[in-house]
Amino acid sequence: MNQDPVLVKDWLAAAYAHDLKGNPLQVTILNERIVLFRTRGGVHAFKDLCIHRGAALSLGKVEDDCIVCPYHGWKYDAEGECVKIPQQPARQSIPPKAKAVVYACIEKYGVIWVKFDAASSQDPPVPFYGEFDDPSFQTVHAEPYLLHAAAPRVVENFLDASHLAFVHDGLLGDSNYPEIPDYSVSWEGDRYVSDEIAIYADADGSGQYATIYYTFEILRPLTARLKKVNYANNQVLSMLFTVLPHEERKTTVFALVSRNYALDQPDEYFREFQKRVIEQDAAIVESQRPEELPLDLQAELHLKADRVSIAYRRWLKELGVTYGSDVSVVSQPSFNP
Ligand code: FES
Ligand code: CO
Repeated sequence: MNQDPVLVKDWLAAAYAHDLKGNPLQVTILNERIVLFRTRGGVHAFKDLCIHRGAALSLGKVEDDCIVCPYHGWKYDAEGECVKIPQQPARQSIPPKAKAVVYACIEKYGVIWVKFDAASSQDPPVPFYGEFDDPSFQTVHAEPYLLHAAAPRVVENFLDASHLAFVHDGLLGDSNYPEIPDYSVSWEGDRYVSDEIAIYADADGSGQYATIYYTFEILRPLTARLKKVNYANNQVLSMLFTVLPHEERKTTVFALVSRNYALDQPDEYFREFQKRVIEQDAAIVESQRPEELPLDLQAELHLKADRVSIAYRRWLKELGVTYGSDVSVVSQPSFNP
């Protein structure tokens, strides 16, 4: 098992709630196969493995609020206890070891969150995202997007204001206005928050230029948030951005996009827009080398404009995140005059 000591204690987004209906769903998280399923009591996450002969429980079905193994029909209740072995119907003959491995699992903001280390109640809660329950906002769940890239590289890309003018020229930025004004990043007790960063652009390709103020927050190692404000018309667009690390170099992006304007515009418009943005990012992020995010600040070069990503790398290093991170020290080339 190659799990990360920090990420196993964190809530990781596993799926959108609307994608888990009657049938169990298999998801790979941190190289481990998980089965998600829904009962009348809520959502559940088990290791996707039957203790009898190792079949994937996700191929089975949900019945009487239990999950039934597809191979020989062993039936596990929502706590992971085996409650029925069809080959020996007497309940008392069920061996005490006949249990599923159960992980913590909750549903919030229309997302199913999984935490491997269920025992640690001291751990951080699911990241807070107030816009989801705020009636002045409408929230869209952007299509999940699979990237062949390490999770921290993907998150850092979301936190990077400098690329908007280039990767998203004409969509979120303008290559004629690439400068990033000076700003700072501060620690707010449980997260990093940037100052408002002014980005001048024709943000939607309509020919209407506006200054949009971006505030980035690094909430958790794999969850961040962005608030974009246009003070000229008080339009606010917020995003909760969280990624699912399937494997070291395979990551799914989930994004909740909330707006306090254009409430009568079809959600599909915002979903499509987000898809175009992530498609543009994908090509770049998948090209980055090393694939893993270098946490040593001696590696790669940093500008003032990179303060959010510097804070991100520093925090991952402090926390001890190793998954998708390059922790090897890269020595700088030295020159003798
Ligand atoms: Fe699951 Fe036999 S492998 S019941
Ligand atoms: Co981007």
